[in-house]
Amino acid sequence: MLNHDIDDILVSETEIAGIVKTLASEITQDYKHKKPLVVGLLKGCIPFISDLLKELDFFLEVDFMDVSSYHGGVESTGDVKINKDLGTAVKGRHVILAEDIVDSGQTIQAIRSMLLYRGAQTVKVVTLLDKPKGRVVQLQPDYIGTTIPDAFVVGYGLDYKELYRNLPYVGTLKPAIYETESEE
Ligand code: IMP
Repeated sequence: MLNHDIDDILVSETEIAGIVKTLASEITQDYKHKKPLVVGLLKGCIPFISDLLKELDFFLEVDFMDVSSYHGGVESTGDVKINKDLGTAVKGRHVILAEDIVDSGQTIQAIRSMLLYRGAQTVKVVTLLDKPKGRVVQLQPDYIGTTIPDAFVVGYGLDYKELYRNLPYVGTLKPAIYETESEE
């Protein structure tokens, strides 16, 4: 049913599985003795963090944050509103921020700064998808699954108006979907 709305598949289910395994082995090399705190950014991170965690064979803790971004403001401050904060103290911890996609970079940069301000020892970023063309701040994710063009994508956690997060792959929507929406 959802498939009918998809124009093009950019990252298939099989490709995602391979990417997650590669990311997990890099992260395992770097963190196996550090007992990090893996922080997922809701809601987009859900399929990704769930698959990634299952591939990480070392001691770690998991927590989640839900933030809203205020984009379009004056350049790179990237203010974020915290809808749900962490329940875990980050002071002295090695934190891995898990994101579905990094676009402008403002959200992740704001959260990274906030966690460092709270005393995290290190904060690294893992993202399934990177859209470097959208970047408005200087932020390079530490672990990147794959780089995609500057297109709006849905699936595997990513939504359009809260829908399509449950697609098992990443793709673009047919233009008709946006047109229908604008007529409503
Ligand atoms: P940034 O602060 O611009 O990097 O925003 C990242 C957030 O914007 C992601 O966590 C997504 O929620 C959202 N986002 C950016 N690009 C897309 C996209 O192509 N599809 C769906 N959501 C996106």
